[in-house]
Amino acid sequence: MCGIVGYAGKRQAAPILLDGLSKLEYRGYDSAGICVQGERELRVFKAKGRLKVLSDQISGGAAVPGVVGIGHTRWATHGAPSNINSHPHLSDSGKIAVVHNGIIENEARLREWLIGKGWHFRSDTDTEVISNLVGYYYDKLHDFPKAVRAAIKRVEGSYALGILCADLPDMVIAVKKDSPLIFGYGEGENFIASDVPAILKYTRTVSYLDDGDMAVFTPDTVRFFDSFGDEIRKSRETVTWEISAAEKGGFDHFMLKEIFEQPKALRDTISPRIRDGRLELGVELSAEFLRKLHRVYFIACGSAYYVSVLAKYTLEKACKVAVEAVMASEFRYSDPIVDDHTLVVAISQSGETADTLAALREAKSRGAKTLAIVNVVGSAVAKTADQTIYTWAGPEIAVATTKAFSTQLAVVYLLALHMAKQLGTLDEAEIARLLGELQKLPEQVERELREENIERIQYYCSRNYAHNSAFYIGRNLDSAVCLEGSLKLKEVAYVHSEAYPAGELKHGPISLIEEGTTVVALATIPALFDKTISNVREVRARGAEVFCITLEEFAERAGKVSQYVFPVPAAEPMFQPSLSLIPLQLVGYYIALNRGCDVDKPRNLAKSVTVE
Ligand code: F6R
Repeated sequence: MCGIVGYAGKRQAAPILLDGLSKLEYRGYDSAGICVQGERELRVFKAKGRLKVLSDQISGGAAVPGVVGIGHTRWATHGAPSNINSHPHLSDSGKIAVVHNGIIENEARLREWLIGKGWHFRSDTDTEVISNLVGYYYDKLHDFPKAVRAAIKRVEGSYALGILCADLPDMVIAVKKDSPLIFGYGEGENFIASDVPAILKYTRTVSYLDDGDMAVFTPDTVRFFDSFGDEIRKSRETVTWEISAAEKGGFDHFMLKEIFEQPKALRDTISPRIRDGRLELGVELSAEFLRKLHRVYFIACGSAYYVSVLAKYTLEKACKVAVEAVMASEFRYSDPIVDDHTLVVAISQSGETADTLAALREAKSRGAKTLAIVNVVGSAVAKTADQTIYTWAGPEIAVATTKAFSTQLAVVYLLALHMAKQLGTLDEAEIARLLGELQKLPEQVERELREENIERIQYYCSRNYAHNSAFYIGRNLDSAVCLEGSLKLKEVAYVHSEAYPAGELKHGPISLIEEGTTVVALATIPALFDKTISNVREVRARGAEVFCITLEEFAERAGKVSQYVFPVPAAEPMFQPSLSLIPLQLVGYYIALNRGCDVDKPRNLAKSVTVE
């Protein structure tokens, strides 16, 4: 939700800001804007719509001279997407410019107070409250850092801010709470950004700002302060990602690239945790704690929640513990039964999803032991949980998740095996066998991504893209995979779609099946194959067009009742969802492509959802 960048150096700032923003568009793309320090004034350029609109208006930045600036790409919360509501926002005095990622919760009260002091507002945004508040204190204190500190003290909510002051042309101030912000060190230049890809081209040396931290920087200097205003030292970290990880690398879209990166992402996530055939997960979940467990909660949002649903099936079977998967947005307000015999696992790619973070904090406050499964290193969820297991998916840029989902699921398998070992619900030999099977997954996914399989999916999608209603049906683990497949279709192809356990369809939704309704049936569980196929027969009898995903050995039988069949390799049953998922991701992608949708940036969405 919104991306911010900042630069102070010796090069022209505008092209660097625009380039950085282009790597953050996944965070929102309702509007974009930059502010560059001119000779004696702050020069703001902003435009509704994609970054390209702004970039074209200012000739890629060439039209805006200046070596210090800030930039923003927006996902609208307060106020509709418009030129006026775009960031940066200037204070009424014109002295202060602000870019902001987050939400100011006491915006109305502060706005009223500032209006009472004679300050005017031009936009509907909560951010303008910050520019005016800093402007107000700057007029009083004549000290830019002190003015920012005074303003921040009065603000409630979440923020990552980049701030300029017209009187200090080489200085940028950055401050954060509950929204991510990194500081990048260059040679005679310094950077801030919401995420690493925005500055990776210029530097690999970064510091992750913590809540309450403030960075005051110029091209050659940086000083960090904590929330009490005391100067602090920040540790420097080296980012190890390849720059190519944040580029499309010959693929038409990030989503397709990331689908194809899944074998590597799975390998990177699984291999380091298995040494000489033994599982080394690197978490402390002792047998003593696990034996006394009352319950495990998985909390997450969207696709990560669907991983949680799969985790419920997986852990209950392997570890014989009671597991609940709860949407993070519901967990917090449901008075969950949590005590110190509860394990709460939060799953998040970004590690900054507001609902997940709030639910995790709630769980901690109730005494649960907490564990996070996170992709973004050093993110808020990772820092908040007692322990973190990272998914090594690399940067995921497409708004719709693919490789992060796959790696989250792989970590769930590893966690299930770790717990089963501690609890003794699976014996050593069985665990060793399962680890061997798990290591086969990357190669099996590779096989699924072969040309002939892609062509098969392309053919199906080219004939079925026009349907506006779809059902995804399956049983047990398959029904949970359907949730993710259906979401992919909804979010990138804008097709109304429902995922339903196949046996449940006849209790209501079957009334929606008519001539031409798309049904995607997952039938990959041998013991349930016949039952699911009976449900396929029921929808076929009512006119549905069925695309059936099943194991290679069942393909022929599935073909007798379905118009289209996609065979997937058989994995160890527990790990089968990782393979059933792949064709569903591809169906979402190719249907969207056929419908002319903007696959990487679906309408109304942003990748990091930092509002509740
Ligand atoms: C769907 C998708 C979202 C995210 C959800 C949680 O393709 O990407 O549903 O899974 O917003 O995001 P994270 O994992 O960053 O907490």
